[in-house]
Amino acid sequence: MSDDDKRRAAEAALREVQDGMLVGLGTGSTVAFLISALGERVSEGLRIEAVATSVASARAAAAVGIAVRDFAEVARVDLTIDGADEVDARLYAIKGAGGAMLREKVVAAASTRMVVIADGSKRVEGIGAAKLPVEVLPFARAFVTARLEALGAGVEQREGVTDNGNVILDARFGAIPEPVRLAAAIDAVPGALGHGLFLGEVDAAYVASGGTVERIERDEG
Ligand code: 5RP
Repeated sequence: MSDDDKRRAAEAALREVQDGMLVGLGTGSTVAFLISALGERVSEGLRIEAVATSVASARAAAAVGIAVRDFAEVARVDLTIDGADEVDARLYAIKGAGGAMLREKVVAAASTRMVVIADGSKRVEGIGAAKLPVEVLPFARAFVTARLEALGAGVEQREGVTDNGNVILDARFGAIPEPVRLAAAIDAVPGALGHGLFLGEVDAAYVASGGTVERIERDEG
């Protein structure tokens, strides 16, 4: 894991930001580099507005002079740039180590284009080794834990609550041979409000390793 590579990935993705865009800001340490570089471009005259996927990112963006709109008033975003915990060649990703995956998924779904930025430690052959966070209505905690265990996960509750006031269950599957099936199974559990499997949302990934940035674009065919 390298901060230089996180910065490089962020700066490469930043080139996609154009005047007039409404930009979705993800959450995490890689996105922190993006927010800081975007703030510099704004101070140089770039005219954009942003929505943020977490209170932390909204604060960080405002602190560097980026105009942040309330996403509750927004239905469409031009371009969202976000981090990931794992991403593979199919652009399947696991997100949510930072706990913001529910808002991140909503903002990604509202976005015309969504790109992931990551250092090379996040690039995997197949997703599934990372813990899969699931945001859960506190009322449904024990019930959703049991359902995730029945799906084969070891489950741990994370300390604290999300920006939405819910709890996070970290589900460890070890490997996820059928991500689409697993996502559908978790989506079907009442009280599970969102999870970190991003299977169709990511249009491209900028992954930096040893100073070189690779862009993986979703195969349009
Ligand atoms: C937060 C996320 C983050 O984007 C993801 O955890 C990557 O974070 P970092 O850039 O700090 O490694 O999904 O919910």
